Amino acid sequence: MKSIGILTSGGDAPGMNACIRAVVRYAVANGMTVFGIEKGYEGLINGDIREMNGRSVSDIIQRGGTILKTARCSEFATEAGMKKAAESMRARGIEGLVIIGGDGSFRGARELFELCGVPSAGIPGTIDNDLAYTDYTLGFDTAVNTVLSAINNLRDTMTSHDLANIVEVMGRHCGDIALFAGLAGGAETILIPEKPISEDEICENIMANKKKGKLSNIIVMAEGAGNAEALQKVIIERTGVQIRTTRLGHIQRGGTPSMADRILAARFAVRAVDLLLADDDLKVAKVVGIRNNKIVDEEYSVALARTNKGHEDLYKIAKVLCT
Ligand code: F6P
Repeated sequence: MKSIGILTSGGDAPGMNACIRAVVRYAVANGMTVFGIEKGYEGLINGDIREMNGRSVSDIIQRGGTILKTARCSEFATEAGMKKAAESMRARGIEGLVIIGGDGSFRGARELFELCGVPSAGIPGTIDNDLAYTDYTLGFDTAVNTVLSAINNLRDTMTSHDLANIVEVMGRHCGDIALFAGLAGGAETILIPEKPISEDEICENIMANKKKGKLSNIIVMAEGAGNAEALQKVIIERTGVQIRTTRLGHIQRGGTPSMADRILAARFAVRAVDLLLADDDLKVAKVVGIRNNKIVDEEYSVALARTNKGHEDLYKIAKVLCT
């Protein structure tokens, strides 16, 4: 393959820019022509496409967000939208795509291949770390560090006032941000969708901590694990402990990418471009990922069918250490 397009799709994640830079420079260094597509699949449909070179990606390695912009595109979910996207690519001689996004973006890429024969290599870019086929997604490490920094600040003031705090973090279906930030931040309680805990148990924990002389508690709660304000009310009513709620929201999605995310961006980019470079028959429909610190690739259908990444070990450790 000689000519590729690159797009970012779904929620943005720190490290996307570092990855765009790496894809463009590595592909150009290997004789490819690279086109940047604006706003994900929407830009593909509308023809918002421009040629990129090494200079188009200068000074972006350290920036959060995505210079290509991103969108969630409902038209692309239709057959007509997909055909339009494929035509607009072919009109510019683009043979395949690098798609940086999450599971929705990859499902779209798989359908684009099945319906219109468009080959692509997907790079997992989402802060949620909610793809079971890869140990880590791009942006997750930075987001967890952002949460950690917030927990550190909250601890200072909560400890000074003997107050508790529910820190609500992103993650509708996957509790990895809460689990990793909770363990690394020494949270007293971690609430994730994969491990529902009753209000009774949460209140018992707080009372047990009170007896031990632990008056300041940090509860890290994934947004998909319940309603933080409702829980705050229950805790105050049942335990008498003063507790506040902090929703970190989209702060977690921005920020300069960590070293780990920049390195991951480069490694993912090289594998994705290599897959397309070697794809003379235009048959590649794969994602890249990382397992046990080795870069891997897998068919979309195989990768997306995987479930249960499971961090049983980390969850158990967190439960002991929070005592
Ligand atoms: O998928 C990434 C994510 O940041 C989720 O953690 C969060 O639930 C969602 O996006 C928020 O999306 P939006 O910005 O569309 O509200």
